[in-house]
Parts: sequence; structure tokens; C-alpha cells
Amino acid sequence: MKKMDITSLPQTIPIEKIKKAILNGKPEYISGGLSKPGDIFSLDEFWKIVPDIKLNTKFPLAFQGLEQAPLAFETAAIRKAIHSGKSICVSRIDQVHKQLGQLCRLLEVAIGLPGLANCHVYYSPPGTGYSFFHVDAGVAVTLQIEGEKKWRYSQGVSIPWPLSAGGYRKDNFEWLGRSPWQPEEKEFSTPKNQVIIEQKLAPGDILIIPSGVWHSACAEQSTSLSVNLRLTPFPALEGILNSITEECVKNVHFRAPVPFVNLEEIHEDKLKIEQLEYCRTLIDEMQIVLEKIKEDDTSVERIWRSNFPWMPDNEQK
Ligand SMILES: [Fe+2]
Repeated sequence: MKKMDITSLPQTIPIEKIKKAILNGKPEYISGGLSKPGDIFSLDEFWKIVPDIKLNTKFPLAFQGLEQAPLAFETAAIRKAIHSGKSICVSRIDQVHKQLGQLCRLLEVAIGLPGLANCHVYYSPPGTGYSFFHVDAGVAVTLQIEGEKKWRYSQGVSIPWPLSAGGYRKDNFEWLGRSPWQPEEKEFSTPKNQVIIEQKLAPGDILIIPSGVWHSACAEQSTSLSVNLRLTPFPALEGILNSITEECVKNVHFRAPVPFVNLEEIHEDKLKIEQLEYCRTLIDEMQIVLEKIKEDDTSVERIWRSNFPWMPDNEQK
């Protein structure tokens, strides 16, 4: 395997603290962690990059309070949105900003992340931000670049490894987007039952919020520019399921549909034994596939490697 060089990672990025915060599920605030925040990003660079953003990023957003809307990424439109008190979020800015892209790749390696890192930038005039309590599916490492932003967050994880973001955008809790695991409000500890820490971030400060920790952020007196390094670990299930799918689709029984039903069967209370048996046979066949995968070292190694797409040997494939 090629050796990966992380010596160009800015010395001020606190790798060990990020790892520890993720593993312990505890937020970590690092006052003045960046000696030169302008070396990471700046407002000048934001404006320089606007024409590229239009072409390349998937989710540029402007938002004010609860409303989120995609925004045309043109200098005039962005200036107008900021002037009228909207916060701008540029998702995946690492796709168009070379140094932030490199920073993400280096972070993945330095942390040994089973997943991927990307980067969002938040440009927030006074009074704006994600000011409602929410949890995110990934780990957020905020680097405060310019201005100040007030954060509120709980001291530990309330929803372990959520598969999507969720929060109190309106009065009630709601999951944002769909995912296969979305517990109801009564199943977890809400922000009301938590001790909430308030922390103002000033330029150079770093805040690490692990996945599943309640948090909110709002620019107050000044316009805030912050870089959010988003680490998205992959659920362990994904690699295994992908491997099962790859093997199963070689078998025509899994590519074919289950037997069709006729009208009478739809209205019968009980399913025919044969229909259930058909499903049981498929499950039996899948168990054989699972055993085969488990016994084969190469297959198991592939499952493990699929969690680290940034590994040089994986990138070549
Ligand atoms: Fe968040």
C-alpha cells in the first residue's frame, strides 16, 4: 500500500481531540485553536469562488429562520440575500475549493475515518443561522473564520448515530429527510431534559459536535463566516449489505420478482402457504450467500475496505 502523507495537514487541526470527541460522544470547544483562521478560508475567497459554486455544488442554500431555499449562485443574488438578512450555506464547497478539498482528504487519513469528510461554509448576517435545536448524522467540526457565532449544545449524545438530521424546526420534533431508523420523540432525551452549554465562537475558535448531540447556532452582533468540516462515518451495515447484494444478484431468484398474485388472493385474509414458503426459500438462499461471504477472507476484507473509500489501494480500483 502507498504510504499516505499527512504532513501538509495544518498543524492546528486538533486530530486527537476530534477522534476523542467522536469516540466519547462529547462536544469539545477549543478556544483560539486556529492561530491563523485566514489561512484556512476568508471572505475574499468566498466571493472569488462564487462563479465556480454555481457550476459544481449540489446544495447551495440560502436560509432565514426556518425557511430554506436553493439560491442562484450569482454574486448579485448572494449579495441581495445577505443584505436582506439571509444566511448562506454552501454545501460541499470542498468540490470547488482546492485547499478545502485537500484538507478533507488529509483529515480522512489522519483520523482513519470509516467514511468521508466534506466541507460546508456558512456566511451568516446578524440574527441568522441554524438557530433551532437539531442533531446531525455526521460529526461537525466548526472552524470560526470571521465574526462571531453563538452556539448552544448539550453535553453528550442523545440519539446515538442517527441516520439523518432531525430537529425542532417548528414546534414539534421532525426528521429532516427519510432514513430507515427514525425514533420517535418519546424514545430519546430532548434538549429540554439536557444541560445546555452556551458558547460564543470567535475567529480562530474550534467546536467539535459529535453525531447525535443537540445543538443550534446563530450569528448575533456580527456577520459570521465559518467553515464546517463534516465527517460522515458510514453505518457498518452498509458495507455488509452491499456485499450481500453483489452476491445475491448473481442468482436469478433474487433478480426476479416474487410470484404474481391474482385478485382473489389479494382479498383473502390469509396468505397462501406457498407464497410464504417462496420468501423463506429466498431467505435460506441468502443465508448460504452470507456463510460463503463469511468464510472467504477476500470478501470479508472487501467489506472492511469499503468503509475507507479514501484508502489509496481502494481509489485505484
Ligand atoms: Fe448542525
